[in-house]
Amino acid sequence: MGKDKLRKFRENLTFDCFIQPEFDEVFRCDHPLKGHWRSDFFHNDNPIVLELGCGKGEYTVALAERNPSRNFIGIDIKGARMWRGAKTATDRKMPNVGFLRTRIEFINGLFAEGEVDEIWITFPDPQLKSRRAKKRLTSPLFLGYYAHILSPGGWINLKTDSKHLFGYTNEVVRRYGLPCEVSNADIYGTGYADEVLSVKTAYEKRFLEMGLPITYTRFSLAGRHKFPWFDWEEDEKAEKDNEEARLG
Ligand SMILES: C[S@@+](CC[C@H](N)C(=O)[O-])C[C@H]1O[C@@H](n2cnc3c(N)ncnc32)[C@H](O)[C@@H]1O
Repeated sequence: MGKDKLRKFRENLTFDCFIQPEFDEVFRCDHPLKGHWRSDFFHNDNPIVLELGCGKGEYTVALAERNPSRNFIGIDIKGARMWRGAKTATDRKMPNVGFLRTRIEFINGLFAEGEVDEIWITFPDPQLKSRRAKKRLTSPLFLGYYAHILSPGGWINLKTDSKHLFGYTNEVVRRYGLPCEVSNADIYGTGYADEVLSVKTAYEKRFLEMGLPITYTRFSLAGRHKFPWFDWEEDEKAEKDNEEARLG
């Protein structure tokens, strides 16, 4: 492993805003902060917003700067990327920012029922292969995790360059009849992007350079807890098309 990565891993542990649970603190058990993030970590009673797969934490930091009366937690498994956000939050002495290094799959051991008020998912891996659909962060499996921790009416925001993931998420919304406030296939082209939506993550900058439209979906789970699995016909179609294109 590179020296720079190791330095960042070590430095992460010195940041007050950085939490790195041990495996046995989250695997099939509850973390001590579960249900106590407001009182024991932020020391206030403000709403909590998560950025899932936060990478360098651009949204976590930018949203926290604009909303001092809300608490923000960036979650990712890649410590060296998260170092960027944690260092910025530390240098700027931001009291309403946390970074949590863990797998999103462990989220129910980290947050209590209704403890989270909003979720942002920024440029997740679209997991294009249908056999990897369960890994999509808007799949029924993940919605089931979010349903446990999200307060009733809490919004989920997805920003992605992936047409496939955008279409899939719209289908998820349609299948379960979820309230959807925004479904925009090109936030810059349509002039929809406001100050918050114009915050650009590291991945977004790359996709914009490639000329890809950026999509945005904002939906809620409306108190629903059960999301039975479904296979999306478009997955198979897209795979067939790709295979045909590959074989010429
Ligand atoms: C494509 S990157 C996007 C990073 C950042 N949001 C951006 O837009 O620049 C996806 C991020 O999600 C994280 N990630 C993917 N699956 C995850 C999981 N199951 N648990 C935790 N982090 C995950 C990866 O480590 C990676 O940093």
